[in-house]
Amino acid sequence: MKEMTKLYQPGILESVPAVARYVRFKLAETGVDERAIKDALHRLSPLVNGSDVVIGIGPSLVRALGAGIPGLHEFPDMSGHGVNVPATPGTLLCWVRGDDLGDLLHLTRRVQQAVAPVFVAAHVVDAFRHALGASGHGKDLTGYEDGTENPKGEAAEEAALVHGQGEGLDGSSYVAVQQWVHDLDAFDALASDEQDRHFGRRRSDNEELDDSPTWAHVKRTAQESFDPPAFLLRRSMPWMMSMQAGLMFVAFGKSLQAFEAQMRRMAGRDDGITDAMFRISKPVSGAYFWCPPMKDGRLDLRQLGL
Ligand code: HEM
Repeated sequence: MKEMTKLYQPGILESVPAVARYVRFKLAETGVDERAIKDALHRLSPLVNGSDVVIGIGPSLVRALGAGIPGLHEFPDMSGHGVNVPATPGTLLCWVRGDDLGDLLHLTRRVQQAVAPVFVAAHVVDAFRHALGASGHGKDLTGYEDGTENPKGEAAEEAALVHGQGEGLDGSSYVAVQQWVHDLDAFDALASDEQDRHFGRRRSDNEELDDSPTWAHVKRTAQESFDPPAFLLRRSMPWMMSMQAGLMFVAFGKSLQAFEAQMRRMAGRDDGITDAMFRISKPVSGAYFWCPPMKDGRLDLRQLGL
């Protein structure tokens, strides 16, 4: 596990930054072939130190390069039981991170210029850390601390990073990215103890409730309650645009299995019971990406044939 420290994009394990942008690129409609894509990724690579910029490659881009990443697939249909879980396949994700929004704009522009004209920015979400407390975790916009039960230290590496698969794969990670839009009016209309029951935690001191209902969020997603256990490294951040706001839910895993098990249960696919989160928020996007490993401080893209 020690070797792993050199092999992954460090932003995956670092705590969330003060501000970030999730920039989703798509392929241009013309003039795109395998050579052009490879050249664009070569130009992008020096800008990606894995901390200021973390990248993820979507399944369709892996295919366009004639490559294969074990277990990477498109976001499946998990809707049902009255809730919608949209799948919005992505090509290239750049998670641009920092502590100054102006700097992020300029870094985003450099990224955009590097991959142009092969890739064009299709969607950008600006995100931020909210109410960072002594615990080192920020809060969701509902005021609940987010990230408390994340695995830590070696357990975080174990949950989030590929290991034992050989060079070019070890240190890589699979990420699920899902934008949720909060209905803060609906949330505000709930009494405070009902809000706690939604999450299964007390907002005042972040303690888990002993008697939370089966539909409470932390009951649905309790990582040890899955078989096999479904540990995730969540690195979600609040976002807002005009008067809309919510959470960019981001979960890194050594595969996509843990996220998928969690999401299916939240959507009622296991037992027909849907997670309380759907009553105060809804997902409007959902995509999977593979985050390549690093070697000697640079992206290691050999699995993609680069
Ligand atoms: C609007 C969307 C969401 C919000 C606001 C939210 C917020 C929270 C909060 C406040 C906690 C409790 C503290 C913590 O342990 O972090 C939590 C726990 C957790 N959430 Fe979410 N979450 C959302 C969506 C999701 C989704 C989509 C998944 C996975 C599919 C997920 C998986 C988890 C897991 C695994 C835990 C820890 C459970 C445990 O083992 O105790 N969350 N979430």
